[in-house]
Amino acid sequence: MFALSSVRHEFDGKRVLDLAHWQVARGETWLVRGPSGSGKTTLLHILAGILKPAEGSVSVAGQDYARLGAGGLDRFRGRHIGIVLQRLHLVGSLTVMNNLLLAQYLAGLPQDRRRAREVLDGLGLGGKAASHPHQLSHGQAQRVALARAVINQPQLVLAGEPTSNLDDARCREAFELLSAQAAGCNATLVIATHDQRIRERVANRLTLEARS
Ligand SMILES: Nc1ncnc2c1ncn2[C@@H]1O[C@H](COP(=O)(O)OP(=O)(O)OP(=O)(O)O)[C@@H](O)[C@H]1O
Ligand SMILES: [Mg+2]
Repeated sequence: MFALSSVRHEFDGKRVLDLAHWQVARGETWLVRGPSGSGKTTLLHILAGILKPAEGSVSVAGQDYARLGAGGLDRFRGRHIGIVLQRLHLVGSLTVMNNLLLAQYLAGLPQDRRRAREVLDGLGLGGKAASHPHQLSHGQAQRVALARAVINQPQLVLAGEPTSNLDDARCREAFELLSAQAAGCNATLVIATHDQRIRERVANRLTLEARS
């Protein structure tokens, strides 16, 4: 589903990521782990096409990122990749419904309220479509971010620290929702986290090394 080859990145002349080869099949779930500063978020950004690595090649769903310009990458990401980061980046001035419609618009897709309702209902947010993000609990806001990540039926879902700051019950729930939503689109799921509680639940692991 995606392949990274000889991917290296530096910030301010310091090597932060060095990945010889990583290949993942459609529908698999992977955990990216490693201590703080080992490059987990950097790797998610590279996979999302938000950050261009200093060296190496990235190909997602048969698309070589090097062949896309900035606009093409934005469209590709909007259509094929769902992203849930620890900071949710919901648009505060828009309702929950309009946050979802915006994700469709940014991907160049028709705005489909029925699909948005369906996703919200599936996440138990049916009653919150007209609410603004500040009117939601943290767990609800997290589920809206998840709804936005899957609304365009992505082939790849990327999640960064989706469970930190959650108690054990909510951690399990967040992980299960993420897995179920990814499975619902037959998407590949990549979770970057140092949350030990998720470790046993995912068989495929990529461990990044500590860098001083
Ligand atoms: N925009 C940036 N400019 C300069 N250095 C950066 C930038 N982003 C990240 N770094 C550095 O790159 C290294 C890897 O950072 P990254 O955020 O990928 O780590 P991480 O594994 O996600 O850590 P954490 O578990 O704390 O989230 C760190 O040393 C960090 O300081
Ligand atoms: Mg990080």
